[in-house]
This record gives sequence, structure tokens and C-alpha cells, in this order.
Amino acid sequence: MDVRIQGLSKSFGSNQVLKSLDMTFPEQRFVTLLGPSGCGKTTLLRMIAGLERATAGEIYFGGRRVDHLSPGDRNIAMVFQSYALYPTMDVAANIGYGLKVRGVPRAERSEKVGAVAKVLEIGKLLSRKPRALSGGQRQRVALGRAMVRKPDIFLMDEPLSNLDAKLRATMRGELKRFHLDLETTSIYVTHDQLEAMTMSDLVAVMDQGVVQQFATPEEVYDRPANLFVAGFIGSPPMNFAEVELASENGAPVLRLAGRAMPAPPQFDLSGAPRALVLGVRPQDVRMAAPEEAHAIPGTVWMTELIGSERLIEVEVAAKLRITAEVRSEVRATLNAAVAVAFDPSRLHLFDPGSGRALPRLGGRERAG
Ligand SMILES: Nc1ncnc2c1ncn2[C@@H]1O[C@H](COP(=O)(O)OP(=O)(O)OP(=O)(O)O)[C@@H](O)[C@H]1O
Ligand SMILES: [Mg+2]
Repeated sequence: MDVRIQGLSKSFGSNQVLKSLDMTFPEQRFVTLLGPSGCGKTTLLRMIAGLERATAGEIYFGGRRVDHLSPGDRNIAMVFQSYALYPTMDVAANIGYGLKVRGVPRAERSEKVGAVAKVLEIGKLLSRKPRALSGGQRQRVALGRAMVRKPDIFLMDEPLSNLDAKLRATMRGELKRFHLDLETTSIYVTHDQLEAMTMSDLVAVMDQGVVQQFATPEEVYDRPANLFVAGFIGSPPMNFAEVELASENGAPVLRLAGRAMPAPPQFDLSGAPRALVLGVRPQDVRMAAPEEAHAIPGTVWMTELIGSERLIEVEVAAKLRITAEVRSEVRATLNAAVAVAFDPSRLHLFDPGSGRALPRLGGRERAG
């Protein structure tokens, strides 16, 4: 069942936290709401769940308007940041509670609870009370309570935030698998971009109550719609530099730190302003010889080994440093004269006035 929101706004007093959102969460897809703290992710999820009233706008599940329905009448399952378990019930009863109130017979209930507990690796804890569990174990019980039912829509708000790194990685796979088996529409809130990129069919990148881009993980990464999305997605963050669009021998070039390089051919530069912002991911920067054509000379400002890769920060102008992510075998001495070069097909260009990415030639443009 798809979820459609139309003109959805929410204010707390004079603080408008969601600004007239229009979007469709397609049926049986896994959609992530991704954005910095305070951007309105939880508020949007709570409105879809029916726990928060919209200031304006409409919500539809499968074409049926649900704004007036209470959470219990929406056939949703939810796991929240702050999960409340029933303190007097043991783990098995907590997980099976939703089935019990629906009149599911005891044998079937215990079978389903057992299956979910196995997936979540809490099979040995079924007779414990919540107070005798760690935070991560409680979180898995809360997940189990939602997973044991067959909801039309599965809402999750940072459900893995209390788990250690290893369990988190396992649970990412389990949750995705569970979503596919259940054939449900899942809406997942996180500020962890790795979770968003690995689990989602679609990612809605939010900032300040506005959806900045709503697209596949590949598209959000390869074709960020604006400077916010470009800077938010990717680690280490994308490098940005002010460049000047000029013409040399009839061909468009970008001037950066006194050097000129051919303008990337994938952009439509016809209406572009002279001053632009160039974006390049550290993974798309390589170390070059200072005399290489189109390379940008500079000095090594800092290096950092991050496992199999090394980050090399090169100062190419006053207050302008470009980070390259290279293989760890590549050495760099502090203050050495080096140069960086970019893969032109991987460059991004933005209009500094609007912050929007320049249009691409022959490409679709999608933005939220
Ligand atoms: N009940 C409330 N009353 C007043 N303001 C609220 C209320 N709930 C949320 N807000 C405000 O709305 C904004 C969005 O909050 P929300 O919880 O949706 O953010 P979030 O994106 O989920 O952040 P986080 O990643 O930190 O969980 C924040 O500025 C928050 O202070
Ligand atoms: Mg939140």
C-alpha cells in the first residue's frame, strides 16, 4: 500500500518544522528519511503514524485518506527512538502482545514469537523482564514486537541506534530481508547515511523541514540536486571550491587557483553564471605531478591513514584545501610540493546563488 502526503505542514507554535511536503512512498518499497538532527524526520513519521496532527495537508494510505484515523486504525507497525516496553511482561509477552489482542491462538503466537526472537538473537531472553535487559536488547524486543505482526506499513525511527557496530551491520541485512518477506511499505528514519545508502530503494534527504532530494541512493550520491545534499552525503565530505567559468580557444574552462581545466562536458553551461561552485568527492581526486596539464599544484597540509585508504589534504590556495582519498601505499610528506587532478566525468557544478546543481546534458533532473 503506498503512502502519499500532500501539502503536509507542521508547526509547533511559531516554529514551522515541516514546510508543505508533497511526496509518495511507493508500495512495498523501503524508503529512508535522512537528514541532520532537528530537520523533522521524527515529526513526519509520527504524523504518518497518527501520533501527531498535521497543521495543514493530507495523508493517504493506498488512496484512502487517513488523517482522521487513530494510530490503532491505520494497520501500521512502528519502532521508535524511545521504545516503551511493558515493564511487567516478560520478553515473549512483550513481543506477542499485538497478536494476543488480535485473538491469535497461543500456539501460533508462541511459534511466531520464537521465529522473530531467533532472527533478533534474543531467543534466550524470552522469559526475562525488560529491566533485566541491556539497551540494545530492549531495542531488539521493540523491533520484535513490530516485526511479529503483518502491517501494511512499517515505520522505524532509528531502530538500530543503540546497537553495537557488529550487530548493527547484521540487523541492517535482517531488517531489509524482513521488509522483503513481509511485502510491506517501509519508512525508515536515520541520520546514518550508510544505513540509508545500503538499505533503501529511495532516500528522501531532508533539511530544515524541506525534502531536498527524493531519489535512489545512486542518484543522490552521483547527482546531488544541490549543495546541501552534495555536502551531506558521502564520507569524507565532498570538496567544494569557487571557480570561474571562462573560455579559452573557444572551449569552456574552469579557473581554479590560477589554473584552467576543461569544463566537465556533462553539464549544460548555456545559462550558467561566471562564478560557480565546483564539487569533487575525495574518491575522485588523485595525486598528480605538479607539471601535469590541468593538475592543480599545492602543498601537503595533512595526511591521515584510514585503514586501506589514506586521506591527503592539499592546500592549493589560501584557505582552500582539497582532500584526496588514495590507496594507503601512496605516500605524502607534510609540506611537500604536490598536485591534485580530478576525473572530469565525476565533477559536480553548482550555482552559488540558488545552491542548485547545474542541469546535465541529456540527463534527467530529479529533485524533491
Ligand atoms: N512536541 C514538540 N514541541 C515543540 N517542538 C517540537 C516537538 N517535537 C519536535 N519539535 C521540534 O521540531 C523540530 C524537528 O524535530 P524532530 O524530532 O522531528 O527532528 P529529527 O529530524 O527527528 O531529529 P533527530 O535526528 O535529532 O531525532 C525540532 O526543532 C524540535 O525541537
Ligand atoms: Mg528523530
